Amino acid sequence: MSKIGIYPGTFDPMTNGHLNIIQRALKIVDKLIIGVADNLNKTPLLSIDERKNIIENDIFSLQQNNKKIEIYPVNGLLTEFAKKCNADCIIRGLRAVSDFEYEFQMTGMNYQLSPEIETIFLMSADNNSFISSNLVKEVHKLGGDVSKFVSDNTIKILNNKNSSS
Ligand code: COA
Repeated sequence: MSKIGIYPGTFDPMTNGHLNIIQRALKIVDKLIIGVADNLNKTPLLSIDERKNIIENDIFSLQQNNKKIEIYPVNGLLTEFAKKCNADCIIRGLRAVSDFEYEFQMTGMNYQLSPEIETIFLMSADNNSFISSNLVKEVHKLGGDVSKFVSDNTIKILNNKNSSS
């Protein structure tokens, strides 16, 4: 029976850390749905369309290798979205102990809302454990080189964004 996983996030923007989790999640599930959500506690720099564009570009080579990945916006509750997608599990990346409390709370809440959907955590690879979308945006805005953390296409989109603001 084929397994469907959801990888949700704000992805503002997607980083190489997220990409690493996607590559590894594809070893566990047969189809991965990337859910681009608005976290009510964050004010994204990029629109949903810009974030989707970055993800589409970044996962292109995986899709060329016949990996089944789809991207959708998530409006409303993640658990409702997961049910609509017939998902078996939610996949999340864990970078450090500091992520644990937040993830623990979200997983507990999602479990109360939909106990049939399991959450699976993947530990970030060592070289990605310090990357965060916020730090990438800050370093880029201050003129630092972020090419080790995000794709060239992402840098172009961030350049346009910063020059128009
Ligand atoms: N490597 C490096 N960095 C990583 C990473 C990895 N493997 N995985 C995550 N990150 C970073 C991101 O860059 C991001 O950094 P930032 O905090 O500087 O922005 C941070 O970790 C977490 O971002 P992300 O993975 O995009 O998740 P999020 O916390 O923004 O997403 C949602 C939260 C979208 C899953 C949650 O808000 C949600 O479910 N929303 C839908 C509404 C809902 O159901 N709410 C109730 C939830 S109980």
